[in-house]
Amino acid sequence: MNVTVIGAGTMGRGIAQVFAQVGNEVVLTDVYQKALETAANEIQKSLGKLHSKGAITEAPELVYGRIKFTEDLSLGRDADIFIEAVLEKLEIKEALYKQLNEIAGENSIIASNTSSISINALSAAIKKPENFLGLHFFNPVPIMKLVEIIKGVRTSASVVEKAIEITRQLGKEPVTSQDFPGFISNRILMPLIREAILALEEGVSSREDIDKTLKLGMNHPMGPLELADFIGLDVVQDIMAVLYEEFGDPRFKPPVTLRNLVNARKLGRKSGEGFYKY
Ligand SMILES: NC(=O)c1ccc[n+]([C@@H]2O[C@H](COP(=O)([O-])OP(=O)(O)OC[C@H]3O[C@@H](n4cnc5c(N)ncnc54)[C@H](O)[C@@H]3O)[C@@H](O)[C@H]2O)c1
Repeated sequence: MNVTVIGAGTMGRGIAQVFAQVGNEVVLTDVYQKALETAANEIQKSLGKLHSKGAITEAPELVYGRIKFTEDLSLGRDADIFIEAVLEKLEIKEALYKQLNEIAGENSIIASNTSSISINALSAAIKKPENFLGLHFFNPVPIMKLVEIIKGVRTSASVVEKAIEITRQLGKEPVTSQDFPGFISNRILMPLIREAILALEEGVSSREDIDKTLKLGMNHPMGPLELADFIGLDVVQDIMAVLYEEFGDPRFKPPVTLRNLVNARKLGRKSGEGFYKY
């Protein structure tokens, strides 16, 4: 299968890597050469680690050799599937879809990795919306097993079936969701993180004990505050804000403590401090 991944950031490079790991030819594109260079380095590092742990048996160079890094989107024109992983901004995605409409074949699948934008809203910019759906991978892509498959009102049943098959070929587990804000994952996760932040704000307990409760009492591998730091507090705030606006329900309202940390650029792991120091 020929695969074109657009956007070589955190998600796009992971998605390109997992497709290459199972034998597909992949074109990975970005508008910034620097992003492609970082992606090339990170993919090589990740493949080396997976190989040394025995998680992949093929030589890392062979897997890496299947990925073409380029700023020229037209080199990906023959793809059976296009996966869009550019910034989470409607206008940027819509502008890109105009280009994809020109190069995608009659039967090419176009998938968005969006976390929070409606698949139906995005589909309005797609020439063949029956071939369009959401494929929501999780970070870090080479490790996380889940893929949420989001069906738009106009997505065809055969494209959903094909996406389920592709997900399984990647060694991942699909779940299917209708196009509701936050799909399944963030709709359930965000109120959990929010409640943990409110418990901290109200002085119910310490951050460590809040996290420990979920880890040891409910068997979660990470506590909600740790997880928020891992996702990035700005990203968490943006997702909550979208859900709050869409549902109009206070259970999604971004808490003040979260807003204060984001405004102070304490964004979690990536900035060295969030609820915890790193
Ligand atoms: N980071 C996560 O944990 C996560 C998880 C699931 C889904 N997502 C979704 O995945 C998408 C990408 O997120 P990310 O965290 O990888 O972002 P990122 O900022 O790491 O990467 C985005 C990349 O897109 C590139 N880009 C922007 N416009 C482009 C264009 N027109 N053509 C080609 N490349 C372009 C940027 O240069 C950048 O390298 C978003 O829709 C996000 O909601 C993110």
